[in-house]
Amino acid sequence: MSVRALLDQRLRLAMRDCGLPAHLGPQLARASRPEFGDFQANGALAAAKAMKAKPRELAERMLAAAQLDGIVARAEIAGPGFINLHLADDFLARLLDDLGHARRLCPPAERPQRILVDYSSPNLAKEMHVGHLRSTIIGDAVVRVLEYLGHEVIRQNHMGDWGTQFGMLIAELEDHLGAGEAPDLALADLEQFYQSAKAHFDLDVEFASRARHYVVRLQAGDPHCRALWQRFIDISVAHSEAIYRQLNVSLTHADIRPESAYNPVLEEIVALLVDQGIAREDQGALVAFLPELADQHGKPAAVIVRKSDGGYLYATTDLAALRYRSLVLGAERILYFIDARQSLHMKQVFALARKAGLVDPAVALEHHAFGTMLGPDGKPFKTRAGGTVKLAELLDEAVARAAQLVAAKNPELMETSPEEIARKVGIGAVKYADLSKTRTHDYVFDWEAMLSFDGNTAPYLQYAYTRTQSLFRRAAAIPGAAPGPVRITEDAERGCALLLLEFGEILRQVADDAYPHVLCNYLYDLASAFTGFYQQCPVLKDGIDPGVRASRLALCQLAARTLATGLDLLGIEVMAEM
Ligand code: ARG
Repeated sequence: MSVRALLDQRLRLAMRDCGLPAHLGPQLARASRPEFGDFQANGALAAAKAMKAKPRELAERMLAAAQLDGIVARAEIAGPGFINLHLADDFLARLLDDLGHARRLCPPAERPQRILVDYSSPNLAKEMHVGHLRSTIIGDAVVRVLEYLGHEVIRQNHMGDWGTQFGMLIAELEDHLGAGEAPDLALADLEQFYQSAKAHFDLDVEFASRARHYVVRLQAGDPHCRALWQRFIDISVAHSEAIYRQLNVSLTHADIRPESAYNPVLEEIVALLVDQGIAREDQGALVAFLPELADQHGKPAAVIVRKSDGGYLYATTDLAALRYRSLVLGAERILYFIDARQSLHMKQVFALARKAGLVDPAVALEHHAFGTMLGPDGKPFKTRAGGTVKLAELLDEAVARAAQLVAAKNPELMETSPEEIARKVGIGAVKYADLSKTRTHDYVFDWEAMLSFDGNTAPYLQYAYTRTQSLFRRAAAIPGAAPGPVRITEDAERGCALLLLEFGEILRQVADDAYPHVLCNYLYDLASAFTGFYQQCPVLKDGIDPGVRASRLALCQLAARTLATGLDLLGIEVMAEM
């Protein structure tokens, strides 16, 4: 149990014992200033209001009834009725000793769930571009946190490999191969290939009609079309997987369940909607109506599930995927990491799936939306020529920039190669810059800021970690210098200690709300507290008391472990030096 949870429990019991409305809770918060102690309980104020009593008096009664022996060294009532709590040093020390000896930095979830996460999910018609970065890395961070907490996570990469565009791409590929070109070469630049197919489609009537014809043949399972399509898909998937490796993202080939996988059941899904009276024909198309999602004039939301030409839509596939995820895979909670511009789509799909009984009523369906990555001009991030920025090129640039930075910082590395450092710093910087922003907001992509060694950045955190490692290298040369029982005496030690004990609570918050920036902010606070500790509390200085040294080494070790684990949960790597 975390310190906060323990205090909460004790104070809640005290409220109950003195007949206060315990459901209002003690309203615990970290104290805003060191002189106010470590935690502050503000619950007496709300309780007093509810009972029309004097808050200070209630606070006193609460304190008298609370069993805080051995936990709190000193408590006082301040202002209108706040309770300030100063934790006992040896209580903190004992918790840190336990944490230091534990295999994990936080207990697993009390009720592990089977959680399905849909993320990355790029369209395969084009190369991955910056628009796919956010879903890929935010989703991956949340997946890692959920797994660390002991949940069973099913990753689903719902790749877009189906739809009308593929007719045009198959026709284009057929022409290239017909001219004797090798598929790998033809598809080396997917972006160019797409543009060329699009130009043919727009300008060449024969090509366009062949392309349209191929879509139909592909959907009907024609072997020639299917083979061309498969070649295209294999190469496009390989492009994406190269990016995942470069990004240190945990998605594997087995996690891909693309749109085409649901093609065989779309007819059945639509029939189900029609049978239940949820969808009906409207101007040749089949449309599902949702009165529960009506607009302000009371007009129900209309979702097309089959076009008049018989083609199915993105929404139809998502309905099929939901049924599979809930009823076949047995997911208890389903998370989607998709751009905020698809919020309406997700809302409609969730409502339809529930209404049509395509999912278990108990399943939680959550769309975790995110904002857009913007360029320095505040508009969606584009190349100078106005094109989409390829992710592969962006990541190469990040590594190149990091290489320059690292060479300038430390030209004398001992065991780590500059290439390895540049890769971890460059990729880490891009990921962290994104993850540390509140997910739902747009953010400006800024090389300078993300690669800075000051402030809330990956290089700053990675550097804080290398400091712990250089300390341990020096300690290794000193006989008897090893971590031992923790003693808390200095404020800087206390600051670090309290943060170290909060890690589990932060992870639970990320698991609940899917906001990785909460973990980023925590790691930044921890690194800053650690830097303060490191400056104020000598660890290996000549003549230092061996007991103090052992305690401080234990704190350093826990800080290092927490930083490395936290960064790893964000998908960011650390190194011994930089
Ligand atoms: N392929 C879609 C796109 O690039 C994202 C898919 C998200 N997942 C889903 N189940 N709809 O916009």
